Amino acid sequence: MKRFRQYRLNQEIRDQYADVHLSVTDFIYPYFIVEGKEIKEEIKSMPGVFRFSIDVLLNDIREIKKLGIDKILLFGVVDESSKDEKGSQAYAPDSLIVRTVRAIKKEIPGITVYTDVCLCEYTSHGHCGLLKNNDVENDTTLPLLAEMAYQHALAGADFVAPSSMMDGQVEAIRERLFRAGLSTRILAYSAKYASSFYGPFRDAANSAPAFGDRKTYQMDYRTRNQGLEEIEADIAEGADQVMIKPAMEYLDIIARAQQQFPEVPLVAYQVSGEYAMLKAGAQLGYLDEAGTFYESLSAIKRSGAGQIITYYAKEFATKWNG
Ligand code: PBG
Repeated sequence: MKRFRQYRLNQEIRDQYADVHLSVTDFIYPYFIVEGKEIKEEIKSMPGVFRFSIDVLLNDIREIKKLGIDKILLFGVVDESSKDEKGSQAYAPDSLIVRTVRAIKKEIPGITVYTDVCLCEYTSHGHCGLLKNNDVENDTTLPLLAEMAYQHALAGADFVAPSSMMDGQVEAIRERLFRAGLSTRILAYSAKYASSFYGPFRDAANSAPAFGDRKTYQMDYRTRNQGLEEIEADIAEGADQVMIKPAMEYLDIIARAQQQFPEVPLVAYQVSGEYAMLKAGAQLGYLDEAGTFYESLSAIKRSGAGQIITYYAKEFATKWNG
């Protein structure tokens, strides 16, 4: 008989044998930004997550920075009146995100800023690119994504993160940034699956498709190898970091990607539905909140993710330090 229980005798010994340790610097913390002043409104399906106007956002970033979180990801949320067919507000030179990035860079040094690059939050139809025959047209969407990334980069973003799942989006952005002489890096949403776990995000960002779904561009989760092919292509196109999304349901893909591409930083996104389900379970009294979040985040890291995008980062930091 092999005696394993000696590894688990008490907390100190268990700590000695643990090889996965979470740290606040593993996390990228997402923010939803709206126009206006003094706005901090909670998202109903995501307790503890808010939409912020820029002024209040800056205070919140100062708080998380004190807690040790040093990376954030920004999403713009605009109302219906500023949306159009082409998502013009996505790539306007004075867009909501451009103004947000400028404000952060002016006021708060030492925070790494990632911006989401996708049209779905800005188009009247809620799809991630230009429509033709009721489907997103790949190649005419590329220059718009490139322009959006360029505007974010010009404003001072450290990373742009294309998430629309158009073929060639990384290359188009890479070229545009290179031509402009900008050294902004690219975090590619490479293996992004068409997932029901994005539901609460679409509420939060007011970005649900007006018709149909995203299955003609986001990945089919019944494929075993396509995610790895997507990652390989994005690396070839010049991605500096790659992402798998969602996280908890895709630990197999994370583990394989880490083994196949060990030299490229790997990011996993614990998405809105994953957050919402753990929060809801905790609020109903069915789950222990801190315990389930620590376990899920540890599993994501154990599978091979170097960084984790999670809505729980701030609460984690509060509990970790306190
Ligand atoms: C698209 C985008 C989405 C998410 C991140 N970027 C929504 C979608 O593709 O439908 C989802 C993130 C989450 O669910 O937390 N801009």
